[in-house]
Amino acid sequence: MARILPVPNFDCVVFGATGDLTMRKLLPALYNRFRDGQYDGGCRIIGAARSDLSEEEYRNKAEAALRRFVPESAQATATVQDFLRLVHYARVDGAGETGWDTLIADLDARPKQVRPYYLATSPDLYGPICHNLAAHGGITPLSRVVLEKPIGHDLASARAINDAVGAVVPEAQVFRIDHYLGKETVQNLLALRFANTIFERLWNADVIDHVQITVAETVGVEGRGGYYDKSGALRDMVQNHILQMLCLLAMESPVSLDADAVRDEKLKVLRALRRIAPHEVPAFTVRGQYAAGAVGGQPVAGYQSDLGNGQDGHGERSLTETFVALKVQVNSWRWAGVPFYLRTGKRLPQKVSEIVVQFRTPPFSIFPADTIGTEPNRLLIRLQPEEGMRLEMMTKEPGPGGLHLRPTGLDISFEKTFGQRFPDAYERLLMDVVRGNATLFMRRDEVEAAWAWVEPLLDAWENKPEMPRSYPAGSWGPTAAIALIERDGRTWYEGTP
Ligand code: BG6
Repeated sequence: MARILPVPNFDCVVFGATGDLTMRKLLPALYNRFRDGQYDGGCRIIGAARSDLSEEEYRNKAEAALRRFVPESAQATATVQDFLRLVHYARVDGAGETGWDTLIADLDARPKQVRPYYLATSPDLYGPICHNLAAHGGITPLSRVVLEKPIGHDLASARAINDAVGAVVPEAQVFRIDHYLGKETVQNLLALRFANTIFERLWNADVIDHVQITVAETVGVEGRGGYYDKSGALRDMVQNHILQMLCLLAMESPVSLDADAVRDEKLKVLRALRRIAPHEVPAFTVRGQYAAGAVGGQPVAGYQSDLGNGQDGHGERSLTETFVALKVQVNSWRWAGVPFYLRTGKRLPQKVSEIVVQFRTPPFSIFPADTIGTEPNRLLIRLQPEEGMRLEMMTKEPGPGGLHLRPTGLDISFEKTFGQRFPDAYERLLMDVVRGNATLFMRRDEVEAAWAWVEPLLDAWENKPEMPRSYPAGSWGPTAAIALIERDGRTWYEGTP
Protein backbone atom coordinates (compact mmCIF):
# COMPACT_ATOMS: atom_id res chain seq x y z
CA MET A 1 0.00 0.00 0.00
CA ALA A 2 1.43 3.41 -0.96
CA ARG A 3 2.11 5.73 1.96
CA ILE A 4 0.28 9.03 2.05
CA LEU A 5 2.63 11.76 3.13
CA PRO A 6 0.77 14.81 4.40
CA VAL A 7 1.65 18.05 2.65
CA PRO A 8 2.09 21.47 4.31
CA ASN A 9 -0.99 23.64 4.70
CA PHE A 10 -1.88 25.59 1.58
CA ASP A 11 -4.27 28.17 0.18
CA CYS A 12 -4.66 27.22 -3.46
CA VAL A 13 -6.14 29.86 -5.77
CA VAL A 14 -7.61 28.42 -8.95
CA PHE A 15 -8.04 30.99 -11.71
CA GLY A 16 -10.60 29.86 -14.25
CA ALA A 17 -12.64 28.54 -11.34
CA THR A 18 -15.80 27.92 -13.32
CA GLY A 19 -14.08 26.32 -16.32
CA ASP A 20 -14.15 22.74 -17.55
CA LEU A 21 -10.67 21.77 -16.30
CA THR A 22 -11.41 23.00 -12.77
CA MET A 23 -14.72 21.19 -12.59
CA ARG A 24 -13.69 17.99 -14.35
CA LYS A 25 -10.16 17.49 -13.02
CA LEU A 26 -8.91 19.93 -10.40
CA LEU A 27 -11.73 19.91 -7.85
CA PRO A 28 -12.11 16.10 -8.02
CA ALA A 29 -8.33 15.71 -7.65
CA LEU A 30 -8.21 18.04 -4.64
CA TYR A 31 -11.21 16.25 -3.15
CA ASN A 32 -9.59 12.82 -3.54
CA ARG A 33 -6.39 13.96 -1.81
CA PHE A 34 -8.47 15.43 1.02
CA ARG A 35 -10.48 12.23 1.30
CA ASP A 36 -7.27 10.21 1.54
CA GLY A 37 -6.08 12.46 4.35
CA GLN A 38 -3.16 14.08 2.55
CA TYR A 39 -4.23 17.49 3.83
CA ASP A 40 -6.87 18.68 6.27
CA GLY A 41 -9.16 21.51 7.26
CA GLY A 42 -6.22 23.90 7.63
CA CYS A 43 -6.17 24.36 3.85
CA ARG A 44 -8.33 26.41 1.48
CA ILE A 45 -9.22 26.20 -2.17
CA ILE A 46 -10.17 29.59 -3.52
CA GLY A 47 -11.89 29.61 -6.88
CA ALA A 48 -11.20 32.87 -8.71
CA ALA A 49 -13.13 34.02 -11.76
CA ARG A 50 -14.89 37.03 -13.22
CA SER A 51 -18.43 35.76 -12.68
CA ASP A 52 -20.48 37.43 -10.01
CA LEU A 53 -21.06 34.41 -7.78
CA SER A 54 -21.61 34.14 -4.06
CA GLU A 55 -19.53 31.69 -2.05
CA GLU A 56 -22.59 29.51 -1.71
CA GLU A 57 -23.28 29.51 -5.45
CA TYR A 58 -19.71 28.50 -6.15
CA ARG A 59 -19.81 25.73 -3.56
CA ASN A 60 -22.97 24.43 -5.21
CA LYS A 61 -21.16 24.30 -8.54
CA ALA A 62 -18.21 22.56 -6.90
CA GLU A 63 -20.52 20.03 -5.29
CA ALA A 64 -22.23 19.33 -8.63
CA ALA A 65 -18.79 18.74 -10.18
CA LEU A 66 -17.83 16.26 -7.46
CA ARG A 67 -21.12 14.41 -7.79
CA ARG A 68 -20.49 14.13 -11.52
CA PHE A 69 -16.78 13.43 -11.75
CA VAL A 70 -15.92 11.49 -8.57
CA PRO A 71 -17.03 7.84 -8.48
CA GLU A 72 -20.14 7.43 -6.37
CA SER A 73 -18.37 5.01 -4.02
CA ALA A 74 -16.00 7.84 -3.02
CA GLN A 75 -18.74 10.40 -2.35
CA ALA A 76 -19.49 10.01 1.37
CA THR A 77 -21.74 12.96 2.18
CA ALA A 78 -19.87 13.99 5.31
CA THR A 79 -16.53 14.01 3.47
CA VAL A 80 -17.96 16.02 0.58
CA GLN A 81 -19.40 18.56 3.04
CA ASP A 82 -16.09 18.78 4.95
CA PHE A 83 -14.28 19.39 1.67
CA LEU A 84 -16.77 22.01 0.50
CA ARG A 85 -16.15 23.98 3.69
CA LEU A 86 -12.60 24.52 2.42
CA VAL A 87 -13.87 25.89 -0.90
CA HIS A 88 -14.19 29.68 -1.26
CA TYR A 89 -14.82 32.07 -4.10
CA ALA A 90 -13.14 35.31 -5.09
CA ARG A 91 -14.39 37.55 -7.88
CA VAL A 92 -11.25 38.56 -9.73
CA ASP A 93 -10.69 39.92 -13.20
CA GLY A 94 -7.47 38.26 -14.37
CA ALA A 95 -6.54 40.97 -16.86
CA GLY A 96 -8.26 43.89 -15.07
CA GLU A 97 -8.22 45.54 -11.67
CA THR A 98 -11.24 44.02 -9.94
CA GLY A 99 -10.78 41.87 -6.87
CA TRP A 100 -6.99 41.76 -6.52
CA ASP A 101 -6.58 43.81 -3.34
CA THR A 102 -9.20 41.75 -1.51
CA LEU A 103 -7.77 38.44 -2.70
CA ILE A 104 -4.18 39.22 -1.75
CA ALA A 105 -5.16 40.72 1.62
CA ASP A 106 -7.08 37.53 2.36
CA LEU A 107 -4.03 35.40 1.47
CA ASP A 108 -1.66 37.65 3.42
CA ALA A 109 -3.71 37.03 6.55
CA ARG A 110 -2.30 33.48 6.53
CA PRO A 111 1.37 34.09 5.68
CA LYS A 112 2.61 30.60 6.51
CA GLN A 113 0.37 28.82 4.00
CA VAL A 114 1.93 27.52 0.80
CA ARG A 115 0.29 29.51 -1.97
CA PRO A 116 -0.26 27.69 -5.27
CA TYR A 117 -1.86 29.81 -7.98
CA TYR A 118 -3.30 27.45 -10.56
CA LEU A 119 -3.86 29.20 -13.90
CA ALA A 120 -6.60 27.10 -15.51
CA THR A 121 -7.40 29.90 -17.92
CA SER A 122 -6.69 30.72 -21.51
CA PRO A 123 -2.90 31.13 -21.97
CA ASP A 124 -3.39 34.78 -23.06
CA LEU A 125 -4.14 35.48 -19.41
CA TYR A 126 -0.98 33.91 -17.96
CA GLY A 127 1.06 37.09 -18.43
CA PRO A 128 -1.64 39.49 -17.17
CA ILE A 129 -2.52 37.33 -14.13
CA CYS A 130 1.13 37.03 -13.11
CA HIS A 131 1.59 40.75 -13.62
CA ASN A 132 -1.40 41.46 -11.38
CA LEU A 133 -0.24 38.98 -8.76
CA ALA A 134 3.16 40.65 -8.59
CA ALA A 135 1.76 44.20 -8.73
CA HIS A 136 -0.46 43.46 -5.73
CA GLY A 137 2.31 41.82 -3.74
CA GLY A 138 0.95 38.31 -4.23
CA ILE A 139 4.26 36.62 -5.19
CA THR A 140 6.01 35.52 -2.02
CA PRO A 141 8.64 32.81 -1.42
CA LEU A 142 5.79 30.41 -0.68
CA SER A 143 3.96 31.09 -3.96
CA ARG A 144 3.98 28.68 -6.85
CA VAL A 145 2.47 29.50 -10.22
CA VAL A 146 1.03 26.52 -12.09
CA LEU A 147 0.58 26.86 -15.85
CA GLU A 148 -1.62 24.52 -17.83
CA LYS A 149 -0.83 23.58 -21.39
CA PRO A 150 -0.91 24.87 -24.04
CA ILE A 151 1.92 27.28 -23.35
CA GLY A 152 1.47 29.24 -26.55
CA HIS A 153 0.63 27.97 -30.02
CA ASP A 154 4.13 28.26 -31.48
CA LEU A 155 7.65 29.11 -30.37
CA ALA A 156 7.20 32.90 -30.45
CA SER A 157 3.98 32.87 -28.43
CA ALA A 158 5.46 30.36 -25.93
CA ARG A 159 8.47 32.65 -25.47
CA ALA A 160 6.23 35.66 -25.02
CA ILE A 161 4.26 33.87 -22.28
CA ASN A 162 7.42 32.61 -20.59
CA ASP A 163 8.92 36.11 -20.73
CA ALA A 164 5.83 37.71 -19.25
CA VAL A 165 5.62 35.14 -16.45
CA GLY A 166 9.38 35.09 -15.92
CA ALA A 167 9.52 38.88 -15.55
CA VAL A 168 7.68 38.61 -12.23
CA VAL A 169 7.93 34.98 -11.03
CA PRO A 170 11.28 33.19 -10.53
CA GLU A 171 11.57 30.07 -12.73
CA ALA A 172 11.91 27.85 -9.64
CA GLN A 173 8.38 28.89 -8.66
CA VAL A 174 6.81 28.16 -12.06
CA PHE A 175 5.24 24.72 -12.48
CA ARG A 176 4.30 23.91 -16.08
CA ILE A 177 1.94 20.96 -16.01
CA ASP A 178 1.96 18.14 -18.50
CA HIS A 179 -0.53 15.79 -16.92
CA TYR A 180 0.98 12.77 -18.73
CA LEU A 181 3.99 13.12 -16.45
CA GLY A 182 1.69 12.46 -13.49
CA LYS A 183 0.46 9.15 -14.90
CA GLU A 184 1.70 6.14 -12.97
CA THR A 185 3.21 4.30 -15.90
CA VAL A 186 5.01 7.36 -17.20
CA GLN A 187 6.71 7.74 -13.82
CA ASN A 188 7.33 4.05 -13.90
CA LEU A 189 9.50 4.54 -16.95
CA LEU A 190 12.08 6.04 -14.62
CA ALA A 191 11.84 3.01 -12.33
CA LEU A 192 11.93 0.56 -15.22
CA ARG A 193 15.03 2.09 -16.70
CA PHE A 194 17.00 3.23 -13.69
CA ALA A 195 15.97 0.91 -10.85
CA ASN A 196 16.64 -2.26 -12.88
CA THR A 197 19.80 -3.40 -14.56
CA ILE A 198 18.39 -5.69 -17.19
CA PHE A 199 16.90 -3.18 -19.57
CA GLU A 200 19.36 -0.32 -19.49
CA ARG A 201 22.07 -2.45 -21.07
CA LEU A 202 19.74 -3.30 -23.92
CA TRP A 203 18.40 0.22 -24.31
CA ASN A 204 20.18 1.25 -27.47
CA ALA A 205 20.45 0.88 -31.22
CA ASP A 206 22.39 -2.40 -30.96
CA VAL A 207 19.37 -4.21 -29.57
CA ILE A 208 16.30 -2.07 -30.19
CA ASP A 209 14.83 -2.07 -33.68
CA HIS A 210 12.32 0.73 -33.21
CA VAL A 211 9.91 2.32 -30.76
CA GLN A 212 6.22 3.12 -31.17
CA ILE A 213 4.19 5.52 -29.07
CA THR A 214 0.44 5.47 -29.58
CA VAL A 215 -2.05 7.70 -27.79
CA ALA A 216 -5.46 6.81 -29.17
CA GLU A 217 -8.74 8.29 -28.04
CA THR A 218 -12.30 7.31 -28.87
CA VAL A 219 -13.72 10.75 -28.10
CA GLY A 220 -14.15 13.42 -30.75
CA VAL A 221 -13.66 17.10 -29.98
CA GLU A 222 -16.69 17.10 -27.66
CA GLY A 223 -17.48 20.66 -26.60
CA ARG A 224 -13.89 21.83 -27.18
CA GLY A 225 -14.11 22.54 -30.90
CA GLY A 226 -13.29 26.23 -30.45
CA TYR A 227 -9.95 25.44 -28.81
CA TYR A 228 -9.18 22.27 -30.73
CA ASP A 229 -9.76 23.66 -34.18
CA LYS A 230 -7.04 26.26 -33.60
CA SER A 231 -4.75 23.62 -32.18
CA GLY A 232 -4.95 20.21 -33.88
CA ALA A 233 -3.37 16.92 -32.83
CA LEU A 234 0.26 18.00 -33.26
CA ARG A 235 -0.06 20.96 -30.90
CA ASP A 236 -2.57 19.32 -28.56
CA MET A 237 -0.82 15.98 -27.98
CA VAL A 238 2.58 15.69 -29.64
CA GLN A 239 4.32 18.94 -28.68
CA ASN A 240 3.77 18.10 -25.03
CA HIS A 241 2.54 14.66 -23.91
CA ILE A 242 4.11 12.47 -26.58
CA LEU A 243 7.44 14.30 -26.71
CA GLN A 244 7.64 14.14 -22.92
CA MET A 245 7.18 10.36 -23.02
CA LEU A 246 9.76 10.12 -25.75
CA CYS A 247 12.18 12.09 -23.57
CA LEU A 248 11.77 9.74 -20.61
CA LEU A 249 12.26 6.75 -22.87
CA ALA A 250 15.28 8.08 -24.70
CA MET A 251 17.16 10.16 -22.13
CA GLU A 252 20.44 9.25 -20.49
CA SER A 253 20.48 8.47 -16.79
CA PRO A 254 20.11 11.68 -14.78
CA VAL A 255 22.61 12.09 -11.95
CA SER A 256 19.73 12.21 -9.45
CA LEU A 257 15.99 12.62 -9.31
CA ASP A 258 16.33 16.35 -8.67
CA ALA A 259 14.11 18.39 -10.91
CA ASP A 260 16.93 20.00 -12.83
CA ALA A 261 18.93 16.80 -13.20
CA VAL A 262 15.96 15.06 -14.85
CA ARG A 263 15.01 18.08 -16.91
CA ASP A 264 18.56 18.59 -18.16
CA GLU A 265 18.51 15.07 -19.60
CA LYS A 266 15.08 15.47 -21.18
CA LEU A 267 16.19 18.72 -22.74
CA LYS A 268 19.14 16.98 -24.41
CA VAL A 269 16.72 14.56 -26.09
CA LEU A 270 14.56 17.40 -27.37
CA ARG A 271 17.65 19.06 -28.77
CA ALA A 272 18.79 15.82 -30.38
CA LEU A 273 15.53 15.32 -32.30
CA ARG A 274 16.39 15.37 -35.96
CA ARG A 275 14.77 18.37 -37.63
CA ILE A 276 12.38 17.40 -40.38
CA ALA A 277 13.13 19.65 -43.37
CA PRO A 278 10.16 21.12 -45.29
CA HIS A 279 10.69 18.82 -48.27
CA GLU A 280 10.73 15.78 -45.96
CA VAL A 281 7.45 16.59 -44.27
CA PRO A 282 5.28 14.46 -46.60
CA ALA A 283 7.56 11.44 -46.08
CA PHE A 284 7.81 11.71 -42.29
CA THR A 285 4.36 12.92 -41.27
CA VAL A 286 0.74 12.01 -41.93
CA ARG A 287 -2.19 14.22 -41.00
CA GLY A 288 -5.71 12.89 -40.76
CA GLN A 289 -9.18 14.12 -39.95
CA TYR A 290 -12.06 11.89 -38.89
CA ALA A 291 -15.13 11.54 -41.03
CA ALA A 292 -18.43 10.01 -39.93
CA GLY A 293 -18.16 6.39 -38.81
CA ALA A 294 -18.84 4.24 -35.78
CA VAL A 295 -17.01 3.94 -32.49
CA GLY A 296 -17.86 1.09 -30.14
CA GLY A 297 -20.80 0.20 -32.37
CA GLN A 298 -22.31 3.71 -32.11
CA PRO A 299 -22.57 5.87 -35.21
CA VAL A 300 -20.74 9.17 -34.78
CA ALA A 301 -20.48 12.32 -36.89
CA GLY A 302 -17.38 13.56 -38.65
CA TYR A 303 -15.14 16.39 -37.46
CA GLN A 304 -16.67 19.02 -39.72
CA SER A 305 -20.14 18.28 -38.34
CA ASP A 306 -18.81 18.24 -34.79
CA LEU A 307 -17.56 21.76 -35.40
CA GLY A 308 -20.96 22.74 -36.73
CA ASN A 309 -19.65 23.15 -40.27
CA GLY A 310 -22.70 21.45 -41.71
CA GLN A 311 -22.79 17.91 -42.97
CA ASP A 312 -19.49 16.29 -43.91
CA GLY A 313 -18.34 17.70 -47.19
CA HIS A 314 -20.55 20.79 -47.11
CA GLY A 315 -20.02 24.31 -45.91
CA GLU A 316 -16.75 25.74 -44.71
CA ARG A 317 -14.10 23.09 -44.24
CA SER A 318 -11.61 23.07 -41.42
CA LEU A 319 -8.07 21.98 -42.30
CA THR A 320 -7.23 21.01 -38.71
CA GLU A 321 -5.80 17.53 -38.14
CA THR A 322 -7.43 15.24 -35.58
CA PHE A 323 -4.81 12.54 -36.19
CA VAL A 324 -1.11 12.68 -36.74
CA ALA A 325 1.55 10.03 -37.31
CA LEU A 326 5.25 10.85 -37.39
CA LYS A 327 8.54 9.13 -37.91
CA VAL A 328 11.14 10.68 -35.65
CA GLN A 329 14.87 10.13 -35.15
CA VAL A 330 16.98 10.98 -32.14
CA ASN A 331 20.46 12.02 -33.22
CA SER A 332 22.69 10.42 -30.62
CA TRP A 333 25.06 7.47 -30.36
CA ARG A 334 22.50 5.56 -28.34
CA TRP A 335 19.67 5.97 -30.82
CA ALA A 336 21.31 6.37 -34.23
CA GLY A 337 19.19 4.57 -36.82
CA VAL A 338 16.34 3.67 -34.42
CA PRO A 339 13.09 5.21 -35.64
CA PHE A 340 10.46 6.37 -33.17
CA TYR A 341 7.00 6.13 -34.72
CA LEU A 342 4.46 8.34 -32.98
CA ARG A 343 0.72 8.49 -33.57
CA THR A 344 -2.24 10.03 -31.87
CA GLY A 345 -5.80 10.74 -32.85
CA LYS A 346 -9.40 11.31 -31.89
CA ARG A 347 -12.20 8.91 -32.80
CA LEU A 348 -9.94 5.87 -33.03
CA PRO A 349 -11.32 2.43 -32.14
CA GLN A 350 -10.00 2.23 -28.57
CA LYS A 351 -8.81 4.54 -25.82
CA VAL A 352 -5.30 3.28 -25.37
CA SER A 353 -1.93 4.86 -24.63
CA GLU A 354 0.94 2.51 -25.14
CA ILE A 355 4.65 2.46 -25.76
CA VAL A 356 6.09 -0.46 -27.69
CA VAL A 357 9.82 -1.05 -27.61
CA GLN A 358 10.55 -3.60 -30.30
CA PHE A 359 13.84 -5.44 -30.12
CA ARG A 360 15.81 -6.69 -33.10
CA THR A 361 15.19 -10.16 -34.45
CA PRO A 362 17.89 -12.74 -33.63
CA PRO A 363 20.88 -12.31 -35.97
CA PHE A 364 20.71 -15.93 -37.08
CA SER A 365 17.87 -18.38 -36.73
CA ILE A 366 18.49 -22.02 -35.90
CA PHE A 367 14.81 -22.72 -36.50
CA PRO A 368 13.69 -23.91 -39.91
CA ALA A 369 12.46 -21.12 -42.17
CA ASP A 370 8.90 -22.48 -42.05
CA THR A 371 8.75 -22.45 -38.23
CA ILE A 372 5.41 -20.96 -37.36
CA GLY A 373 4.98 -17.90 -35.21
CA THR A 374 8.35 -16.17 -34.90
CA GLU A 375 7.94 -12.65 -33.58
CA PRO A 376 10.51 -10.20 -32.25
CA ASN A 377 10.71 -9.51 -28.51
CA ARG A 378 8.69 -6.52 -27.47
CA LEU A 379 8.36 -4.57 -24.28
CA LEU A 380 4.88 -3.10 -24.03
CA ILE A 381 4.37 -0.28 -21.60
CA ARG A 382 0.68 0.41 -21.13
CA LEU A 383 -0.32 3.79 -19.72
CA GLN A 384 -4.04 3.33 -19.97
CA PRO A 385 -6.29 1.49 -19.58
CA GLU A 386 -5.03 -1.46 -17.49
CA GLU A 387 -1.73 0.13 -16.62
CA GLY A 388 1.13 -2.29 -16.72
CA MET A 389 4.01 -3.78 -18.67
CA ARG A 390 4.44 -6.90 -20.71
CA LEU A 391 7.60 -8.42 -22.07
CA GLU A 392 6.87 -10.60 -25.07
CA MET A 393 9.19 -13.56 -25.50
CA MET A 394 9.22 -16.50 -27.84
CA THR A 395 8.38 -19.86 -26.32
CA LYS A 396 7.75 -23.29 -27.74
CA GLU A 397 4.14 -24.36 -27.71
CA PRO A 398 3.96 -27.41 -25.43
CA GLY A 399 3.26 -30.83 -26.85
CA PRO A 400 4.13 -32.89 -29.88
CA GLY A 401 3.37 -32.02 -33.48
CA GLY A 402 6.43 -30.13 -34.54
CA LEU A 403 8.16 -27.05 -33.30
CA HIS A 404 5.64 -24.28 -33.03
CA LEU A 405 6.84 -21.07 -31.47
CA ARG A 406 4.57 -18.58 -29.81
CA PRO A 407 5.07 -15.14 -28.23
CA THR A 408 4.09 -15.32 -24.58
CA GLY A 409 4.10 -12.46 -22.16
CA LEU A 410 5.73 -11.81 -18.84
CA ASP A 411 3.03 -9.55 -17.47
CA ILE A 412 2.90 -6.98 -14.75
CA SER A 413 -0.57 -5.63 -14.28
CA PHE A 414 -0.32 -2.78 -11.79
CA GLU A 415 -3.87 -3.29 -10.64
CA LYS A 416 -3.37 -7.00 -9.96
CA THR A 417 0.01 -6.44 -8.35
CA PHE A 418 -0.84 -3.43 -6.23
CA GLY A 419 -4.63 -3.87 -6.05
CA GLN A 420 -5.68 -0.31 -5.34
CA ARG A 421 -7.00 2.81 -6.96
CA PHE A 422 -4.26 4.81 -8.65
CA PRO A 423 -4.56 8.50 -8.04
CA ASP A 424 -5.34 10.53 -11.14
CA ALA A 425 -2.34 12.33 -12.62
CA TYR A 426 -3.64 15.70 -11.37
CA GLU A 427 -3.77 14.44 -7.78
CA ARG A 428 -0.12 13.57 -7.80
CA LEU A 429 0.93 16.74 -9.59
CA LEU A 430 -1.10 19.08 -7.37
CA MET A 431 0.49 17.61 -4.26
CA ASP A 432 3.94 17.92 -5.87
CA VAL A 433 3.22 21.61 -6.43
CA VAL A 434 2.39 22.05 -2.74
CA ARG A 435 5.58 20.22 -1.78
CA GLY A 436 7.59 22.28 -4.24
CA ASN A 437 8.82 19.24 -6.14
CA ALA A 438 9.25 20.25 -9.79
CA THR A 439 10.68 16.98 -11.17
CA LEU A 440 7.48 16.13 -13.05
CA PHE A 441 6.98 19.63 -14.47
CA MET A 442 8.42 21.19 -17.59
CA ARG A 443 11.07 23.82 -17.43
CA ARG A 444 10.91 26.83 -19.70
CA ASP A 445 13.70 25.62 -22.00
CA GLU A 446 12.02 22.23 -22.48
CA VAL A 447 8.74 23.77 -23.60
CA GLU A 448 10.59 26.03 -26.01
CA ALA A 449 12.78 23.23 -27.37
CA ALA A 450 9.65 21.16 -28.04
CA TRP A 451 8.07 24.05 -29.92
CA ALA A 452 11.28 24.64 -31.86
CA TRP A 453 11.15 21.04 -33.10
CA VAL A 454 7.44 21.04 -33.91
CA GLU A 455 7.36 24.45 -35.57
CA PRO A 456 8.85 23.51 -38.97
CA LEU A 457 6.11 20.91 -39.34
CA LEU A 458 3.42 23.47 -38.53
CA ASP A 459 5.01 25.90 -40.97
CA ALA A 460 5.23 23.32 -43.73
CA TRP A 461 1.56 22.44 -43.31
CA GLU A 462 0.57 26.08 -43.19
CA ASN A 463 2.59 27.00 -46.25
CA LYS A 464 0.96 24.26 -48.26
CA PRO A 465 -2.59 24.13 -46.92
CA GLU A 466 -4.20 20.83 -47.75
CA MET A 467 -7.12 18.89 -46.43
CA PRO A 468 -5.81 16.24 -43.99
CA ARG A 469 -6.46 12.69 -45.13
CA SER A 470 -9.87 11.50 -44.18
CA TYR A 471 -10.37 8.45 -41.97
CA PRO A 472 -13.65 6.96 -40.85
CA ALA A 473 -14.32 7.41 -37.13
CA GLY A 474 -13.56 4.08 -35.46
CA SER A 475 -10.57 3.23 -37.68
CA TRP A 476 -6.85 3.48 -36.87
CA GLY A 477 -6.42 6.64 -38.93
CA PRO A 478 -5.70 7.18 -42.62
CA THR A 479 -4.12 4.38 -44.59
CA ALA A 480 -1.13 6.64 -45.20
CA ALA A 481 -0.27 6.20 -41.49
CA ILE A 482 0.03 2.47 -42.11
CA ALA A 483 2.15 3.13 -45.17
CA LEU A 484 4.43 5.43 -43.10
CA ILE A 485 5.65 2.49 -41.02
CA GLU A 486 5.19 -0.29 -43.57
CA ARG A 487 7.51 1.45 -46.02
CA ASP A 488 10.22 0.62 -43.49
CA GLY A 489 9.17 -3.05 -43.34
CA ARG A 490 7.50 -2.62 -39.92
CA THR A 491 3.90 -2.53 -38.67
CA TRP A 492 1.95 -0.74 -35.98
CA TYR A 493 1.51 -3.01 -33.01
CA GLU A 494 -2.12 -3.88 -32.56
CA GLY A 495 -1.95 -6.72 -30.05
CA THR A 496 -0.22 -10.05 -29.93
CA PRO A 497 -1.02 -12.11 -33.05
C1 BG6 B 1 -5.29 16.83 -23.15
C2 BG6 B 1 -5.74 17.18 -24.54
O1 BG6 B 1 -4.08 17.45 -22.86
O2 BG6 B 1 -5.13 15.42 -23.05
C3 BG6 B 1 -7.03 16.47 -24.88
O3 BG6 B 1 -5.93 18.58 -24.65
C4 BG6 B 1 -6.90 14.99 -24.65
O4 BG6 B 1 -7.41 16.73 -26.22
C5 BG6 B 1 -6.34 14.70 -23.26
O5 BG6 B 1 -8.19 14.41 -24.78
C6 BG6 B 1 -6.03 13.22 -23.10
O6 BG6 B 1 -5.70 12.97 -21.75
P1 BG6 B 1 -5.94 11.53 -21.10
O7 BG6 B 1 -5.39 11.67 -19.73
O8 BG6 B 1 -7.43 11.30 -21.13
O9 BG6 B 1 -5.21 10.56 -21.95
